Amino acid sequence: MEIQEARKRLDSSARVAVLTGAGISAESGVPTFRGAGGLWEGFRPEELATPEAYARDPEKVWRWYAARYRQVMQAEPNPAHRMLAQLERAKGDGFLLVTQNVDGLHLRAGSRRVVELHGSLTRARCERCGHRQPLPPPDAFEPPPLCERCGGRMRPDVVWFGEFLDAELLARAERAFMTAEVALVIGTSAVVEPAASLGRIAKSAGAYLIEVNPEPTPLTPLADLSLRAGAAHGLGRLLPDDAGTREEAE
Ligand code: OAD
Repeated sequence: MEIQEARKRLDSSARVAVLTGAGISAESGVPTFRGAGGLWEGFRPEELATPEAYARDPEKVWRWYAARYRQVMQAEPNPAHRMLAQLERAKGDGFLLVTQNVDGLHLRAGSRRVVELHGSLTRARCERCGHRQPLPPPDAFEPPPLCERCGGRMRPDVVWFGEFLDAELLARAERAFMTAEVALVIGTSAVVEPAASLGRIAKSAGAYLIEVNPEPTPLTPLADLSLRAGAAHGLGRLLPDDAGTREEAE
């Protein structure tokens, strides 16, 4: 059976690269971007998530990001986040988790080898000197934050439409997927580049490609195994039984 083959490959591979999208946080109550009830439904992203929108009305953009920050801080990592933290501990140096999510839930679940490709709602970046700092706790947070280094105004530390990804982070992600023996793609519609290409890169370099998503995506035809399942259920079928059930010792 394909599922047994996938379990065996995951278990025996030293180099595993994982890509996650909004779907992995759906079970924590964080809305996805596309589809019914999605974050972009009823919104034109360019009114909020672009450098032009921010230049036009920084207060409005900050209000939206502050509300999303509060929302993700109320959410808790779910078993799927914890199972990936556990997989990282099992694999060590050969593991990399690349996420498109800006909710910080992988870090809160204990993952450390993480590339946050689209930034994080939990940080701000100085417009003047580029310094990054965590936002204060939601209760104490009044946007816009000011830079602790230079006093400059700070913007959300997320990648907006029309902006480039951090080149170093992207290179690290691409290296991991190019050299992975197993690539695992979870909860992404696989339509936003360049993240969407990571699975393809791995597959063309010879990796065994596994997808976990309740819906088919453009990556599905390429996958060696595509599990039509939610993230936690799908990962539970792929990983050893005790993965994710242990509480994290931070
Ligand atoms: P999307 O909202 O495009 O897709 C979410 C995916 O999660 C869909 O394929 C769903 O089928 C799947 N899904 C839903 N529930 C799930 C569950 N319980 N378990 C697993 N999967 C589930 O989100 P992303 O692909 O992450 O970029 O979107 C990519 C980027 O588009 C985001 O990072 C954001 C957005 O524009 C930026 O903000 C730069």
